[in-house]
Amino acid sequence: MQSALTKIILDESRQGESFLSSLPENKHFVKTFYIESYGCQMNFSDSEIVASILNGVGFSAISNPEHADLILINTCSIREKAEQTVRTRLKIFEQVKNRRPSVLVGVLGCMAERLKSKFLEEEKLVDLVIGPDAYRTLPALIGDAESGLRAVNVLLSRDETYADIAPVRLGSNGITAFVSIMRGCNNMCSFCVVPFTRGRERSRNAESIYAECCNLFQNGFREVTLLGQNVDSYYWVDERSSEIVTFANLLKKVASISPQLRIRFSTSHPKDITDDVLVAISIHPNICKYIHLPVQSGSTRVLQQMNRTYTREWYMAKIIRIRELVPDCGISSDIISGFCTETEEDHLATLSVMSFARFDMSYMFFYSERPGTLAARRFQDDVSEETKKRRLSEVVKLQNQLSLESNERDLGKVFEVLIEGDSKKSKHEWMGRNSQNKVVIFPKSGNCFVPGNYVDVRISACTGATLLGSAISGNCN
Ligand code: 5AD
Ligand code: SF4
Repeated sequence: MQSALTKIILDESRQGESFLSSLPENKHFVKTFYIESYGCQMNFSDSEIVASILNGVGFSAISNPEHADLILINTCSIREKAEQTVRTRLKIFEQVKNRRPSVLVGVLGCMAERLKSKFLEEEKLVDLVIGPDAYRTLPALIGDAESGLRAVNVLLSRDETYADIAPVRLGSNGITAFVSIMRGCNNMCSFCVVPFTRGRERSRNAESIYAECCNLFQNGFREVTLLGQNVDSYYWVDERSSEIVTFANLLKKVASISPQLRIRFSTSHPKDITDDVLVAISIHPNICKYIHLPVQSGSTRVLQQMNRTYTREWYMAKIIRIRELVPDCGISSDIISGFCTETEEDHLATLSVMSFARFDMSYMFFYSERPGTLAARRFQDDVSEETKKRRLSEVVKLQNQLSLESNERDLGKVFEVLIEGDSKKSKHEWMGRNSQNKVVIFPKSGNCFVPGNYVDVRISACTGATLLGSAISGNCN
């Protein structure tokens, strides 16, 4: 999953359209909520489910916590720093609560599951604690909290997928959306807290995924990203037809909605990604040629300690296979520096696998021990912080070089770009992405394009992070 620590602040100007449109007829908003999300895309997607549940009981979203009746913070536990950031935010919300004691403050998501008693007992400012599988009980818990009870539900479920809840698109650009296809994770990577905070893996009903994507397309969206901790193990059996829907089948189903709808997905596991998925990508022009395939480490010994269940050679063979079947595929990775027992030699093996794979982009972290994980129980966190940081800086330096080289290889090429909106730097330029998920910036230069249009752009310059070019054609409908 994409893991950069980020925060959604709602854009007040969008509220009218995007939130009112999802309300049942005659429903009136009587209260307001503010929600902040941290962590992976799955968490952001969960916040959209929470917003839908709250809309259903008369709460509308606002962008300023100072005026909200309910303040929610959707938290991440994946690294210690993510948890610290949430604690800092809670201290700020404590001040709001001091000024306005009637406001309710709730902690959602992975930290809720991990730290429920601590939040309720030690950090008195929290009124509600709700784990990732308990969002349907939010209205009842708000009722409890309003009558002065401390409300908590962190029960994990074996079957909750929120399949029937239509997410309210928070902070959306109206063009790209995330669609959750499964929850939880059955892999036990020894460093990872996710199987403990989000529970067992379960796949969402394929029909409901298809229906949500159709609905997005009808509402003007042109790209969906299918989300799961390990999308390759998606598995659904249709009760009526007994049809088995694998991830490759699901991709094809969603791709059939319209050639104008792009499909992305995240995250793939090197042990599980199949040729069927690669063939689906190569055959369907609207399934994006981009795979996020976290390697974590380039050393077979460390991979074993991490319980990743593949070797360096297996990973390299997957890269070769991807390049064979999808020659122009973008590939990105997650990398952890300084995992327990990692030696200098292991670190060099990570650098060499990065160069071999020529990652276009990576999310890079130093190892942060998480209580309760297999690694915390079995191994000593024995690489010094100084060494972890030095190795991480070498990994980042190499990735910067690989990203720049990858972008330089694109100079002179023409890509089909889906326009998402204005570039951050100038309203005279469009920002979009190519199939490989690279950001492309090009001048508007009096043309008739709008966000949601596909445009052919010739690349003439680049930085390590961005391709720059100019439009040579496009569909102006
Ligand atoms: N320390 C550092 N990075 C971690 N990740 C998961 N757990 C940890 C941890 N304890 C990283 C992995 C994973 C990504 C989502 O976060 O690289 O793929
Ligand atoms: Fe964590 Fe591994 Fe599952 Fe990813 S696949 S969520 S790293 S346990």
